[in-house]
Amino acid sequence: EKGGYDHFMLKEIYEQPSVIKDTYRGRLNANLGIVQMAGVEDNIEKFLNAKRILIVACGTSWHAGLVAEYIFEEFTRIPVEVEYASEFRYRNPIINKDDVVIAISQSGETADTMAAIKLAKENGAFVFGVCNVVGSSISRESHAGAYTHAGPEIGVASTKAFTTQITVLTMIALRLGKAKGTLSNTDFHTYLQELEIIPEKVKEALETNDRAKEIAAAFKDAPNCLYLGRGYNFPVALEGALKLKEISYIHAEGYPAAEMKHGPIALIDEHMPVIVIAPKQGHYDKIVSNIQEIKSRSGKIIAVVTKGDTQVRELADYVIEIPETSDALSPLITTIPLQLLSYHIAVMRGCNVDQPRNLAKSVTVE
Ligand code: M6R
Repeated sequence: EKGGYDHFMLKEIYEQPSVIKDTYRGRLNANLGIVQMAGVEDNIEKFLNAKRILIVACGTSWHAGLVAEYIFEEFTRIPVEVEYASEFRYRNPIINKDDVVIAISQSGETADTMAAIKLAKENGAFVFGVCNVVGSSISRESHAGAYTHAGPEIGVASTKAFTTQITVLTMIALRLGKAKGTLSNTDFHTYLQELEIIPEKVKEALETNDRAKEIAAAFKDAPNCLYLGRGYNFPVALEGALKLKEISYIHAEGYPAAEMKHGPIALIDEHMPVIVIAPKQGHYDKIVSNIQEIKSRSGKIIAVVTKGDTQVRELADYVIEIPETSDALSPLITTIPLQLLSYHIAVMRGCNVDQPRNLAKSVTVE
């Protein structure tokens, strides 16, 4: 049932405040300074002794893995590599016994991700699954794991799975950062508190819906689109672009903003919409100068900014305001308006939002 929404995708976008809460419930308590997941606690030595964390996944789950790379390295100082499962499995990859391999998969049935963890196991690595579907193949094949509690995701375009995956991965990074002492006590407690109130901020970010619709109306006929972000929001740019292409069939590319001048800037003219993720926390000044570069080439700028922003507002054609949070947690918020934007564009183009052409919800063949 769509619960009064026109599409499952929209319903699932709106479920994010509650499913993020479901995902941390019983695992996170900011007052008590606790973050724990049974699958992590039972294997804490494996995590703490890991020389490296390898993340394997596909599609949107791979994007969640990229966000996790930034978070893990910052909080735990453990080196992280994020791999497309399909590339990893056929590359004769280097896998060590003291590697922790994290497989991320909403369905838990993705063929390439499954093959990647089998290979990792054969080579003696510890495999930890982050899946949404309980009892799925990847969750069973993993040595241990932590479920996201997103509930069934029906829309082919993954939305709530992405934000709940980031929630689980952030909790793991917090737990390890605390144990290793790589995250200060103050930062640890601040992040716990911030994560606990993230559902409220996601709810606030959902209020950008009308604005997203308005922007969608202006750009629905664009043949191409660029998404730019830096740091924690670079993977969000990739995810924004994927959402747009899969449901609206508009060609879109995500880039780290600073890569612009290494090629993609040649694409910019007055017909090119450029969606820039520019929250106050993070590399704000850098992204402002990236926006200036786009502006001087007449690109159309749609910027996702922190509430109250003035500097980007002066440069951008459209701004979408989101609530402030710390840099590391910002992907949970910046993602929301991008999901809404692609949803509305797809609806306006008359596309089959929940079942886009050529795509299957779970890719069980390679
Ligand atoms: O079930 P999984 O998370 O393993 O699926 C991975 C991808 O197939 C999936 O995220 C796909 O990219 C989505 N359609 C993206 O919206």
